[in-house]
Amino acid sequence: MTAPTSDDVPRADGMPVLGLGTWENTDPDACANAVATALETGYRHVDTAQAYGNEKSVGDGLAAADVPRDDVFLATKVWADDLAYDDVLESTEESLDALGVDYVDLLYVHWPARAYDPEETLAAFDQLYDEGRIERVGVSNFEPEQVSEAVDVADAPIFANQIELHPLLQQRELREHCAELGVEVVAYSPLARGGVFDVPELTEIAEKHGISEAQVSLAWLREKGVTAIPKATSEHHIRDNWASLSLALDDEDVERIDAIDRTDRRVDPDFAPW
Ligand SMILES: NC(=O)c1ccc[n+]([C@@H]2O[C@H](COP(=O)([O-])OP(=O)(O)OC[C@H]3O[C@@H](n4cnc5c(N)ncnc54)[C@H](OP(=O)(O)O)[C@@H]3O)[C@@H](O)[C@H]2O)c1
Repeated sequence: MTAPTSDDVPRADGMPVLGLGTWENTDPDACANAVATALETGYRHVDTAQAYGNEKSVGDGLAAADVPRDDVFLATKVWADDLAYDDVLESTEESLDALGVDYVDLLYVHWPARAYDPEETLAAFDQLYDEGRIERVGVSNFEPEQVSEAVDVADAPIFANQIELHPLLQQRELREHCAELGVEVVAYSPLARGGVFDVPELTEIAEKHGISEAQVSLAWLREKGVTAIPKATSEHHIRDNWASLSLALDDEDVERIDAIDRTDRRVDPDFAPW
């Protein structure tokens, strides 16, 4: 099988549908290496957040890789404590500084919690959008009614909702709601933080194709029109996830995964809106 190149990654309205996650990749060298390795493998989408404490290392990886900055779709998130108007503007400048870039491709509201106030928070995001400091406005962990509210309140389009999504938490209603509003869905924890390796249906499909359960989960998400951002540190994992782009599941595989009837949420802080 030929290894996919960066040109092979489908895009959802400009966003590569497979990206690299970086939560808990806090060792500076390991994080910078993972980002550089991913970019050299062909990834063109990197996801970080203020709260991950690694924007500087992500920026170092971006600078180290032999890939022009403008070819990379870079996303970060404003933490829930920094969602008052001035705090959004200030903390975003700090993020840009740490990342070593003039703009990010996508800036998310990390959680609709704590200092989140739709009018005030999104007015600051609108300002950053108008100034060209962010190319797109995103939300994360928003429930259907909160997505609708954000779409109504913001002047800039709401580009994406980043949510936990994998075969053990399929989020059908939220996916449909986002599709109706023209909001892209980005799947976080697309490997269920390791949970996908322990699901008989996924193991059987993986064995049938001679691939990993990680690739099965990522191919299923792509089949659903969802962008996935698996976190990987080792080169082996980075490449394994990348190879999911070569995998086409058949209808029977997709139906089997669709039928997994579980609600197994891996990220559930006490301030979550659900
Ligand atoms: N918006 C939010 O609130 C939010 C919440 C959670 C996550 N996220 C974003 O989504 C990203 C992904 O989610 P996640 O980090 O929670 O979990 P995940 O991507 O579902 O799983 C990551 C785990 O799987 C391992 N792994 C990766 N590829 C593998 C492979 N091919 N085979 C075996 N193991 C593999 C990783 O190990 P190694 O690291 O050792 O390679 C790591 O332990 C985050 O990093 C972050 O960018 C956002």
